[in-house]
Amino acid sequence: MASNGHSNHVHGQEDQNHTNGSAVSHMPKKLKLSSPPSSPFITDSEIESEFSHHDPAVARLNNGAFGCCPASVISAQQQWHLKYLSQPDSFFFNHLQNGILQSRTIIKELVNAEHLDEISFVDNASTAATIVFQQVAWAFGEGKFQKGDVAIMLHYAYGAVKKSIEAYVVRSGGEIIQVHLPFPVSSDQEIITEFRRALERGKADGKRVRLAVIDHVTSMPSVVIPVKELVRICREENVEQVFVDAAHAIGCTHVDMKEIGADFYASNLHKWFFCPPSIAFLYCRRSPKSCDLHHPVVSHEYGKGLAKECSWIGTRDYSPQLIVPAVLRFVNRFEGGIEGIKKRNHDAVVEMGEMLAQAWGTHLGTPPHMCASLIMVGLPASLGITCDSDAIKLRTHLRDHFGIEVPIYYRTPRDGEVGSVTGYARISHQVYNKVDDYYKFRDAINQLVRDAFTCALLSD
Ligand SMILES: Cc1ncc(COP(=O)(O)O)c(C=O)c1O
Repeated sequence: MASNGHSNHVHGQEDQNHTNGSAVSHMPKKLKLSSPPSSPFITDSEIESEFSHHDPAVARLNNGAFGCCPASVISAQQQWHLKYLSQPDSFFFNHLQNGILQSRTIIKELVNAEHLDEISFVDNASTAATIVFQQVAWAFGEGKFQKGDVAIMLHYAYGAVKKSIEAYVVRSGGEIIQVHLPFPVSSDQEIITEFRRALERGKADGKRVRLAVIDHVTSMPSVVIPVKELVRICREENVEQVFVDAAHAIGCTHVDMKEIGADFYASNLHKWFFCPPSIAFLYCRRSPKSCDLHHPVVSHEYGKGLAKECSWIGTRDYSPQLIVPAVLRFVNRFEGGIEGIKKRNHDAVVEMGEMLAQAWGTHLGTPPHMCASLIMVGLPASLGITCDSDAIKLRTHLRDHFGIEVPIYYRTPRDGEVGSVTGYARISHQVYNKVDDYYKFRDAINQLVRDAFTCALLSD
């Protein structure tokens, strides 16, 4: 469970020589995302101090939900707040646009996009999804898509994203086909097979599949989806648009826009990339299809391209969009930068997941190659997790009585299945985690089992 790394140069420097002129002239000449170490790696005690604002009473095994933000980034954000509050007009005219441009440049390089204008910043993955689904709704409204045209989505799509599809796509006349995914899952092929089946259903009777919504890392249960293969299948099968909901992706799994080849791809930066809430990037591949995307909040920049629209949607706090160079400075203190962090988190979460599964006599929900920095671990069947509400109650019980924060997933047993594992904990690993966090969880569950606890004992 190595958690430290090394210091690298910081290359995305914020706020230098800004003027009111063309922002492009102020972009770093040669943006390097990591470089040979010039000073020692970050130490364990420095990591502790970067996260000393975390509640020490809580074993935080749920980085997947809200992410985390180190002290050095919080302090850089405060500097941006002060810069704004001390002279808002100067901030607006001299700093804001150049700062956002530098941040977008860093993300463009990190995710291997072809063009800078393919990268826009929005508040979160929910906003990104809205932008994509809104143009689908317009396509129905303007007669480009016809009533009954199909959108495909995973059964495990995030709940809020499903609602957004309902609000924009279904309400406009789209028909939804869900891809039913098995869980536990043991191979990419199982997912690919189910996806192909759903596409066949979508195309039955000559129907057009206009949109596929594919998660990169599903939320609950958490599984890394073979997006590259699924996007390729969509292309072969003439699916018109592919949106990858990658809310967990950057800093958590491999992200490469050219390799994945989706039309639209969105990842939060506040989950696994150490940004403060809230910021996500929305990638829109340069193509005629991407030209009708607009931020749902319309302001002065309307019609100037999505990235420009997103850089001013009215008066608000833009500091999360300005903080990316400071985040790069933080991650480059670790060996291998964000790639190194991602790999160490993955290795550690697999190790901790296996330790817990062994201690409880259960199993993992996915093989290691199908998990990122989160993994599903089976909970003892004797805990009696029989519905979604049991899962929530157990989570609350672990928080209130044991100081453990971990989301729990309920899996409906198949017909005739008795006495099997129905509850899975989704554990995360981030640089601040220690082995003791996972031992605390192991011991809490063992104690509950010893005490003959079942979820039926918990009141609503
Ligand atoms: C797969 C997935 N999509 C979308 C979201 C929504 O992210 P946000 O609340 O930041 O908009 C989440 C949040 O956890 C998620 O896991």
